[in-house]
Amino acid sequence: MDAIAPVTVTITGAGGQIGYALLFRIAAGDALGPDQPVRLRLLEIPQGMRAAEGAALELQDCAFPLLRDVEVTDDAAVAFADADRALLVGSRPRMVGMERSDLLAANAGIFAPQGAAIAANAAADVRVLAVGNPANTNALIAAAAADGIPGERFSALTRLDHDRAVAQLAATLEVGPAQLQGVTIWGNHSATQFPDIDHAAVDGAPVRAALAEKLGGADAAAAWLDEVFIPRVARRGAEIIEVRGSSSAASAANAVIAHVRDEALGTRAGWTSAALVSRGEYGVPEGLVCSFPVTSDGTGYRVVEGLDLDARARARLDASVAELAAERDAVRELGALPRS
Ligand code: NAD
Ligand code: LMR
Repeated sequence: MDAIAPVTVTITGAGGQIGYALLFRIAAGDALGPDQPVRLRLLEIPQGMRAAEGAALELQDCAFPLLRDVEVTDDAAVAFADADRALLVGSRPRMVGMERSDLLAANAGIFAPQGAAIAANAAADVRVLAVGNPANTNALIAAAAADGIPGERFSALTRLDHDRAVAQLAATLEVGPAQLQGVTIWGNHSATQFPDIDHAAVDGAPVRAALAEKLGGADAAAAWLDEVFIPRVARRGAEIIEVRGSSSAASAANAVIAHVRDEALGTRAGWTSAALVSRGEYGVPEGLVCSFPVTSDGTGYRVVEGLDLDARARARLDASVAELAAERDAVRELGALPRS
C-alpha cells in the first residue's frame, strides 16, 4: 500500500513517436515528482497496439520504482477509467507541405469521442492536455464533448513554442535559458502564434534593451524580432519536419513533461505559456482555447492578467485569435462542435 495514492495518467497515441519519448519520463517521475507513484493507461487504435504493447514491455524492463502498472487498450472507456490526467497525443501528424489546419477534419473525429469518454469514465477532477494538432481546436472539441467537466480543466500544449522562443533568445543573447523570464506565446499553436518578449527580462533587465545592445540598436532589435525571431519560432515545427522528415517528438514530449510538472507542482519564477479556455481575458472571445501567459500554484493554470499590449502586439494576437475562431467555425461545420 502506497503512502501516496498513485495518479492514473492516460496517454493516447502511446505507440507513436511522442508517446515513445514521453512514457518513460512520466514513469521516472519527471512530470509528477519523485515521490508520486503512477499508473499508465495507453490508448491506441488497433494498428498502433503492437507498438504500444512493445513500449509497455520496455517500461517493465526499466523497473521504475514509481510505476505501479501499465495497461494497453484500444477501448477509450477502459483507457480513461479513473484517469486523473489525460494526455491526448494520438492523432495524425502533419507531413511535409501541410499546415496544421489541414489536419482539422482528420482529427476532429478523434477528439469529440475522446472528450465524451473522459466525461463518462475519468476521475471527477481529471485534467486534460491536448497535444495532437491542431492542438487548440482539438482541446476545444474535447472540452465541448466532455459534459460536466469544467472548461478550466482543459488545456492545449504551447509549451514547446514557449521553450523554442526562450532557446532562440538565449542563443542570441548568449545567456542561459534560466536567465530569461516573462516570455509569452499568445494565440494558436500555428504559424500565426505571437511569441512576445515585450514583458521579458534577462537577469531582471528588459530583453528588448539587451537585444538592442547586442544587435546594434533599437531598430536592429525590432527588425530581428519581426523578421527572424517570430517567424523562426512560429515555423519551427515545419523546420523540424523539413530537416528530420517527421514532426518533433522528443522536444514535444519534453514540453508535455514541463507543462504537466508546472501545472501539478507549481510554476516557479515568473510565468510560462499554455493554451487555456478563454474567459474573455485580453479580449479573446470566451470559449476559444488560446495561449496566454500562465502561472500555477499546483492547483491548475491561471492566466496572468493586466499586461499591456501595444498596437503591434494587439494586431498579432488578434490575427491568431481570428484563426482560432475560423478553426472553431470550420469544426462546427464538420459537426464536431455543438451549434450555438
Ligand atoms: P505519430 O504518428 O508518431 O503517433 C500518433 C499515434 O497516435 C499513432 O501511434 C497512432 O496509431 C495513434 N492514434 C491515431 N489515432 C488515434 C486515436 N483515435 N486514439 C488513440 N491513438 C490514436 O505522431 P506523433 O509524432 O507522436 O505526434 C502526435 C501528434 O502530436 C500529432 O498531431 C502532432 O502533429 C502533434 N504534435 C503537437 C505538438 C505541440 O506542440 N502541440 C508538437 C509535436 C507534435
Ligand atoms: C511542432 O510544433 O513541432 C508540432 O506541432 C508539429 C507540427 O506539425 O508543427
